[in-house]
Amino acid sequence: MRIVLLGPPGVGKGTQGRRLAVDRGWPLISTGEVLREAVARATPLGLEARQIMAAGQLVPDDIMIGLVRERMAESDAAAGFVLDGFPRTVPQAEALDAMLAERGRAVDVALALTAPEEELVRRLSARRECPVCKRAYNLVSAPPSVMDRCDDHPQAALIQRADDEEGTIRKRLEVYHAQTRPLVDYYRTRGRLVEVPGTGTSDLVYDRLRQALGAAVGGR
Ligand code: AP5
Ligand code: MG
Repeated sequence: MRIVLLGPPGVGKGTQGRRLAVDRGWPLISTGEVLREAVARATPLGLEARQIMAAGQLVPDDIMIGLVRERMAESDAAAGFVLDGFPRTVPQAEALDAMLAERGRAVDVALALTAPEEELVRRLSARRECPVCKRAYNLVSAPPSVMDRCDDHPQAALIQRADDEEGTIRKRLEVYHAQTRPLVDYYRTRGRLVEVPGTGTSDLVYDRLRQALGAAVGGR
């Protein structure tokens, strides 16, 4: 099954997407993670993306579309995948539809997570990430067992993302409303949209998401 996760920064796309992908055995394709990895390794892509990301802006569509096209061609993505952070603009959504159509496929469900803006800012300000496995922790809602250390990689100190500073968070939210939110209507008009409230505990959100997914694909 081909799932797209939609929603503003901090709504829980990475948290829920990781869990869904592990449960179903599909790869999680997170374009934000791919870009952060490229920045950390200072590859040509990373050098181009670094300042754009730090400013809370979007990396150009042609770069992102090429990147996802390559990733989707890998064998582990043949049976399905969870996309986190792509598509993010209408041209990206159109390109994804075209890529899948070449293989006789389509996006099965676009899961849109929702939460109030102040909650998003609170979550992002307290987010910390494992530099090894990229798992997201939260100093308030999902702290690690030992302060500042990943539960699975205790040798690695948790880090704060470069774009999780309050000014950049606000900019990312603005960019989301201007460029990514229109995708909610894009998938709604195509009969693929399922909206899931992203508030409450992470377990509660995951239960909702699983039920919504089951209901959406049950009839297909
Ligand atoms: P990306 O990495 O995709 O960032 P984002 O969309 O801003 O989303 P986040 O990763 O910040 O939030 P999330 O929804 O994954 O939330 P999480 O689960 O971590 O993109 C980063 C940048 O890369 C972009 O700004 C852009 O520059 C570039 N980029 C990426 N893709 C692109 C594309 N396609 N085109 C162009 N540019 C692109 O949760 C957040 C926090 O909340 C965590 O601390 C978590 O523990 C906590 N939390 C989660 N669920 C709950 C809950 N239910 N209750 C309380 N706390 C919770
Ligand atoms: Mg994320």
